[in-house]
Amino acid sequence: MLDSHRSCPDGLKSTMKNLIFDRSDDVSTADLKKLYIATFGCQMNDYDSQRMAQILRNRYVLTSRPEEADLVLVNTCAIREKAENKAYSLLGRFRKLKKLRPEMVIGITGCVAQLEGGRLLHRMPFLDLVIGPLEIYRLPEILEDGRAAEKWPSVHTELDRDFSIPLVRAPLPENNPVRTFVTIMQGCDNFCTYCVVPNVRGREISRPPGDIVAEVEHVLAQGVREVILLGQNVNSYGKKNRDYPCFSGLLRAVAGVPGLERLRFTTSHPRDLTSDIMKCFREVPQLCEHLHLPVQSGSTGILKRMNRHYTRDQYLSTVDRLKSICPEIVLTTDLIVGFPGETDSDFLDTLSLLETVEFEQIFPFKYSPRPGTRAASFEDQVPLHVQNERFEEVLRVQNEIGMRRHKVLEGRKQEVLIEGPSRGDRSEITGRTRGNHVINLPGPAELAGEVVTVEIERACCHSLRGRLPGSVSLQDEGFTSVTNELY
Ligand code: 5AD
Ligand code: SF4
Repeated sequence: MLDSHRSCPDGLKSTMKNLIFDRSDDVSTADLKKLYIATFGCQMNDYDSQRMAQILRNRYVLTSRPEEADLVLVNTCAIREKAENKAYSLLGRFRKLKKLRPEMVIGITGCVAQLEGGRLLHRMPFLDLVIGPLEIYRLPEILEDGRAAEKWPSVHTELDRDFSIPLVRAPLPENNPVRTFVTIMQGCDNFCTYCVVPNVRGREISRPPGDIVAEVEHVLAQGVREVILLGQNVNSYGKKNRDYPCFSGLLRAVAGVPGLERLRFTTSHPRDLTSDIMKCFREVPQLCEHLHLPVQSGSTGILKRMNRHYTRDQYLSTVDRLKSICPEIVLTTDLIVGFPGETDSDFLDTLSLLETVEFEQIFPFKYSPRPGTRAASFEDQVPLHVQNERFEEVLRVQNEIGMRRHKVLEGRKQEVLIEGPSRGDRSEITGRTRGNHVINLPGPAELAGEVVTVEIERACCHSLRGRLPGSVSLQDEGFTSVTNELY
């Protein structure tokens, strides 16, 4: 089991579904050791955890029980202090397990490993391995070395400029996955003043288009129907490589892979969203009409201090252009409240931008100073109580907007790709609309992987309820409240 801790405030709760290791080749599980992976953070980390499980599959079988694992890997996120602290507290719990079973190998991987490196060994002397995100593909070799020469604890945090993401052809760890990520680039060159990513994932490197297409073919052969192309800033794909297509060219190439039902991508930088990319939403049938376009702030002054390279008006005109090319587009965003120097008036600009754009959903964050970033040394840090107030206000405003946007869908029919049983209620199924709305409905689990037409019965703040046309309505059964929202 790969445990995902993205929205898990208190430790070991698993939010990933159905991640039984599929061993369809001739490796016998009886000879294998047990591997437990906990994952914090973004989709990049989910992707990396899956690759770790794949490349170790000849030696380890995944377990959902850390106490029985021979190897425990905690794949960490450094984007905000809170995420970092959650990983430390989980590792503290594993220290107790290691006391009971000293042969247990404990490794920290990902962005905190890269950021803190060898310092982690002082803080947590029980650690055996510290492995940065670009070094995870060396895990089999690192594990082998350690056994032969007792070289642990060992630290692996090279940020190699020539790094390329290997093509892993092993079966995906998840059983019958309907949607999956395919990384198209690694790192970031933007240096937004709040962001630790360029320090921990290195400079932007695009993956060769042939490898991307080969990985898409590989995942489709395993039953995947929807692919999400992944990178810190996918819109600048190929800019450093003359012989690579630009991002819109890549989108068209991937969409042409036979068997692909749906295509999405994340994350986009507003500055790099060209008309060519916008036109793909209209012209590429597989590309779903949803765009995650992080704005971060509605104030031009704050955007400048964030080094975002666009103004409020430029962001708004990009959105206008996109809506005129693809009127059905569903927009979501990230934003930061309480960035250093953010005044009440800057904050009001953010609220008014939310009202103007009417995002379907937002992912707001309180600013968190990160080591090595420029904004961490800005003098005018915003007090925590102001950050808290602004955070609550942003949620309040967006809840109304989100509800309004969702209400429009009530009574309409939508094409939904069914992903499997609903997490909240296993007797129901869950899926996504092309606009990326999560929808729960009564229906048979066998529909997983199918695109079905669903009638939207009821809008909630963060998800929808629906029914298959012709089935009994929840209202008909006296259903009055919705309790299983997914977020
Ligand atoms: N503090 C708060 N939020 C941050 N993000 C990135 N760095 C920070 C930080 N230091 C947010 C941005 C980004 C999302 C992934 O995390 O909104 O888009
Ligand atoms: Fe961080 Fe900015 Fe790069 Fe996104 S674009 S990863 S926020 S530096």
